[in-house]
Amino acid sequence: MVAFPTETVYGLGAVAFDALAVARIFEIKGRPHFDPLIVHVANAELAFDLCQSEPSLASRLAEAFWPGPLTLVLPKHPSIPDIVTAGLPSVAVRVPSHPVAQQLLAAVAAPLAAPSANRFGRISPTTAAHVYNDLGNDVPMILDGGSCTQGIESTILSLLEKRPQLLRHGSVSLEEIQDVIGEVESNIDPTDRPLSPGQLPSHYAPKTRLQFVRDAAPPGDSERVGLLAMGPTLASGYAAIEVLSESGELREAACNLFAALRRLDERQLDRIVCEFAPQQGLGNAINDRLWRGCQR
Ligand code: TXA
Ligand code: MG
Repeated sequence: MVAFPTETVYGLGAVAFDALAVARIFEIKGRPHFDPLIVHVANAELAFDLCQSEPSLASRLAEAFWPGPLTLVLPKHPSIPDIVTAGLPSVAVRVPSHPVAQQLLAAVAAPLAAPSANRFGRISPTTAAHVYNDLGNDVPMILDGGSCTQGIESTILSLLEKRPQLLRHGSVSLEEIQDVIGEVESNIDPTDRPLSPGQLPSHYAPKTRLQFVRDAAPPGDSERVGLLAMGPTLASGYAAIEVLSESGELREAACNLFAALRRLDERQLDRIVCEFAPQQGLGNAINDRLWRGCQR
């Protein structure tokens, strides 16, 4: 088992064919067994080897986005142990672009099943130190590849039905996917039954209470409040402020989101308030993570 960097977040990986090693991932994370893992491979050919069929949409998406932060859900090959897919007849595959992830996959020469390397339900790690702070010595080895460049998980798209369906907003925006394959079903309602089994309403949660605000009014004197701002802000009266992007860029904001949330979480605040991102492009992924972080 090894924690390793990807362009999105750090993963906790084990050889996907080794059911015992994969079971240990669930144990370390405290992750429920009904929540399947993403399988990481070095290239598209190896990814489709793990699938029963390869619709033409899949190859177009692979060409456009792999290596990179898109995960495809396809009918699974029988060689993949049930523990990886939580007994589902489908498998989620992705080809990470991070050079360290690629080197690891080349060295291991096998697919790696890997969830994000955090305790279940908590904030995803975007540095090796985040992984160590969360999982400590439970993980025998952490490969340090610096800060993740995307900072928010991969986008998950199911190709099981005729019409592609978005299961999780992520680092590739819905608009970018639609530019390549046209219409995508994308009615993710976080309050509804999760489309991806693990996308439970309470997820990505800091220990400190997190709340959405429309207009960040100055807090009262009686409590210490932190502000997670999308862009430059004149807000005052906060015990701590994190600005996700000084230039108000969504890609930069997504990249900084989890690290900023962790820094606020360490400040012994009474609560953290956060602003909505615009509902377009990566703003959808940011709002999804914050919304789930607000549930408890
Ligand atoms: O960016 C990422 O995707 C990171 C890095 C490490 O690659 N991984 C990641 O894994 O976010 P994790 O375990 O935190 O999230 C995987 C999500 C879960 O919501 C799970 O339910 C969904 O993928 N998933 C996995 N297999 C699936 C399947 N066969 N059908 C539907 N959803 C699936
Ligand atoms: Mg995760």
